[in-house]
Amino acid sequence: MRLKDKVAIITGSTKGIGRETAMRFAKEGAKVVICGTNEEAIKSGVEEAKSYGAEALGFKVDVSKRAQVDEMVAGVKSAWGRIDILVNNAGVTADAMLKKMTEEQFDKVININLKGVFNCAQAVTDTMMEQGSGVILNTTSVVGLYGNVGQTNYAAAKWGVIGMTKTWAKELGRKGIRVNAVAPGFIMTPMTEAVPEKILDMMKEKAPLQRLGKPEDIASAFLFLASDEASFITGAVLSVDGGLVLG
Ligand code: CAA
Repeated sequence: MRLKDKVAIITGSTKGIGRETAMRFAKEGAKVVICGTNEEAIKSGVEEAKSYGAEALGFKVDVSKRAQVDEMVAGVKSAWGRIDILVNNAGVTADAMLKKMTEEQFDKVININLKGVFNCAQAVTDTMMEQGSGVILNTTSVVGLYGNVGQTNYAAAKWGVIGMTKTWAKELGRKGIRVNAVAPGFIMTPMTEAVPEKILDMMKEKAPLQRLGKPEDIASAFLFLASDEASFITGAVLSVDGGLVLG
């Protein structure tokens, strides 16, 4: 088991990439925290993780609300006494062309996808520093590296996540904390179900591997970066996108 007894918080773990990652971590021996905004899905996530023999806790958390994040972190510490891994996965889209994007659309994506990552990382940092160890994994996107039509807000947030990843790697390395990011391409999840079919086909064609990604593809990358196999890797941005990033 690659994460035996590690305590891992995976944000947005009620569906898609987050859920797949949480279950993968559970199967690898981690104690997992399932969190999101849908109570039913949190409950079923906790049950599923337990069915793999893992310990699991569930919290209703909107990552853009600092008080809710702090409450979750306090709950995890009181239950398990430590936090080894944070996967900042929670994210949303609110796509529109620049001309049509509303202030609400812009703020929503920045608050969840950028400030939410800051909130969660800052909330676990004291604990990880006291332990002298920890791993923070952030989710950026191929869109954070190269932009995308209709995604001003999302590209700004995901580009920002790369900046925070590199900054925290520099700040926290001497404290034994590694910070890395994964940059998924177009992955088959509820998020991409809203993308017009012709755009998905275009992305498939552009990628040298000629397919969309699966949540498992990203969970595997998170697992590697969370494990001791990646003990000399920090500040990295790992593209997992079938080569889409090559343009
Ligand atoms: N690349 C190139 N051209 C694109 C494009 C793209 N990614 N997206 C849209 N266009 C083109 C359209 O084909 C259209 O061209 P024509 O005028 O020549 O027909 C033009 O831009 C305007 O597009 P729409 O007619 O669709 O304009 P709209 O205002 O109705 O909708 C939109 C705009 C909401 C952005 C819609 O185009 C859309 O949903 N696009 C997809 C956005 C996208 O890729 N989102 C990714 C979400 S998944 C994700 O974010 C996960 C991740 O990390 C990758």
